[in-house]
Amino acid sequence: MALSELGCLVLDTDGQLSYINPLMCSLLGMPSDNPQNLADLDEHMQARLPAHEPRRRPLLRLFQQVLTHQERNTWSTFKLTQPHAQVVQIKAKRLSDGQVVMYGRDVTVAEELDRRRHEFLSVAAHEIRTPLASVFGYAELLIKRQLSAAKQQDLLGIIHRQAGQLVTLINELLDLSRIEARRGVDFNRQRCTLAHLVEHALSDWSVPDDARVVKLGSVHTDVSVWVDPDKTRQALVNVLSNAFKYSPQGGDIEMETVTKSLADRLWAGIRVRDHGLGMSASEMERVFEKFYRAHPTGVIPGTGLGMSLVKEITELQDGHVQLVSELGKGTEITLWFPARLGDVVS
Ligand SMILES: Nc1ncnc2c1ncn2[C@@H]1O[C@H](COP(=O)(O)OP(=O)(O)OP(=O)(O)O)[C@@H](O)[C@H]1O
Ligand SMILES: [Mg+2]
Repeated sequence: MALSELGCLVLDTDGQLSYINPLMCSLLGMPSDNPQNLADLDEHMQARLPAHEPRRRPLLRLFQQVLTHQERNTWSTFKLTQPHAQVVQIKAKRLSDGQVVMYGRDVTVAEELDRRRHEFLSVAAHEIRTPLASVFGYAELLIKRQLSAAKQQDLLGIIHRQAGQLVTLINELLDLSRIEARRGVDFNRQRCTLAHLVEHALSDWSVPDDARVVKLGSVHTDVSVWVDPDKTRQALVNVLSNAFKYSPQGGDIEMETVTKSLADRLWAGIRVRDHGLGMSASEMERVFEKFYRAHPTGVIPGTGLGMSLVKEITELQDGHVQLVSELGKGTEITLWFPARLGDVVS
């Protein structure tokens, strides 16, 4: 029991404590030195509950329920707030000799994951519904109304654009969920030079209606990293497309590779810099959140999923994303990977 992954305590029929394991002590927030009875335990538990919590003496109630055979074989959930937030579940059971045993478990992480999943689903549904509603609405208009050819063309243009946005959104969602579910096992990692990765990212890539080209700075041909070139290209293309999109007033988009030595390890970075809108510190904090958009003006298209993909792809390849940005000045994003010096066949 001392090693159990469940908290556990045993009470006799008078509510005197005959056993408690260390985990249960810590779940109830009590020092492990001799709690005596149910009242002691409840006192500690009460101190961990939020002040407005209506349930008084929660453990005594569970105890009474099992003694009077109203035991429901379910876990009761307690959202504790003191001294830190924690979600604890407790279940009580009566043993054949009359003693009552209570089990406890910490479900803080599971609850948080559940909350995030729920939030993600509702945001995703909302993001899908918005373009879908306009596709539906305009299509209905075309069916029901006699419109001039020019007006029809107009509406078809909107439907086409909104449907295109939906396709992008669904593709990014599928990419993200596939990458998250596979945790990188289908990545085809190989040794690639930084020069090769930069060239691969820029090949066949351009921004429609934007005459600017990426200005290349110095690029290492003799430093290599262990990555999937196609997935890394996908990440870099996202970063590049942001650099173009979020510098609508123009300015150079620069790309270069850099190295640094950290804790006796060589790291290589692929860096993209723009001189565009930039972001405030609070916007930067949220860039990797799914669906977060710092400039949701409706003028610059996007779904807010690109940077989540960039982070996922980089971190699954043992790297990290560095973000430097200043509102109104521009943004610099670097994808860092563990690196090695020397030539490689790539
Ligand atoms: N280079 C940048 N300069 C300024 N803001 C940026 C830059 N890159 C990202 N952002 C901000 O971060 C937000 C999230 O970026 P992200 O790439 O995830 O989404 P997006 O570009 O809006 O949509 P998409 O999913 O199509 O990439 C953007 O909406 C933008 O507000
Ligand atoms: Mg983007």
